[in-house]
Amino acid sequence: MAYGLLKGKRGIISGALDENSIAWKVALKAKEEGAIFTLTNAPIAMRMGGIQELAKACDAQLIPADATSVEDIENLYKQSMDVLGGKIDFVLHSIGMSVNVRKGKSYGDLNYEWMQKGLDISAISLHKFLQVGEKLDAISDWGSVVALSYIAAQRTYSFYSDMAEAKAMLESIARSYGYRYGKAKNVRVNTISQSPTKTKAGSGIEGFDAFYDFAEKMSPLGNATADDCANYAITLFSDLTKYVTMQNLYHDGGYSSTGISEELVTMIQQQNQQ
Ligand SMILES: NC(=O)c1ccc[n+]([C@@H]2O[C@H](COP(=O)([O-])OP(=O)(O)OC[C@H]3O[C@@H](n4cnc5c(N)ncnc54)[C@H](O)[C@@H]3O)[C@@H](O)[C@H]2O)c1
Repeated sequence: MAYGLLKGKRGIISGALDENSIAWKVALKAKEEGAIFTLTNAPIAMRMGGIQELAKACDAQLIPADATSVEDIENLYKQSMDVLGGKIDFVLHSIGMSVNVRKGKSYGDLNYEWMQKGLDISAISLHKFLQVGEKLDAISDWGSVVALSYIAAQRTYSFYSDMAEAKAMLESIARSYGYRYGKAKNVRVNTISQSPTKTKAGSGIEGFDAFYDFAEKMSPLGNATADDCANYAITLFSDLTKYVTMQNLYHDGGYSSTGISEELVTMIQQQNQQ
């Protein structure tokens, strides 16, 4: 059911790669809720993915931009304002990649050039989106910027490797820039800390399936789906959440507040009896 929550709003949605991507779901919901927006991704992802199909379904223009390139991001805002006919009301940052994780490097054997690349793509790019947005005065008063995070920013998950540092930095940028942009233009900046979700980025992590099941059993509501994550992002883009800013918001079915669940206690008891 649609509520018209984003009627009259203009947006930029990054990170839709295929139909499992969180950003893909956000784009479909944003369209349903009445927004107009552009879609962006790294030039290479544009060539691979079904993003053209999404663009068609959403009547959205595709604008390639490498999230590490200030020049690309400048072009993204300028073109988006041209195409959409005004300043941008909401931006989704749904971008993440660790070269070390992808290439199976362990945390005790990190390649530091790859680490820097991963931090640039996954965290510093949020700063670039915000700084360029501010310099071009491209984001409307009371605009909303949302980035996707993960609880490895607060707690150690061995398999998450240097993406944990990237997420900690991402959340810190959301706070620091949220302060600055809030003062300057009432623009709000938040991160959503999402449950493990079966996407390309998610399943690139070793042991992901087992961890997905663990989180499912730990969360009283179960893992939050990508569709529900999209619903949450829409509320943050809407005028119903105007005073929410500089927050890291858990969207995880209760996982982050659970010590241990009955299901896991039972599983361990059964294992001990064997
Ligand atoms: N899947 C999960 O379990 C999970 C959980 C919590 C948070 N997140 C976060 O959600 C966000 C979206 O990931 P997803 O799970 O939808 O996976 P996904 O693989 O569908 O999306 C990641 C996107 O990042 C894009 N990207 C990578 N390098 C880029 C670059 N240089 N420039 C521009 N774009 C680039 C990819 O092309 C892709 O579209 C990421 O920040 C991810 O860390 C995912």
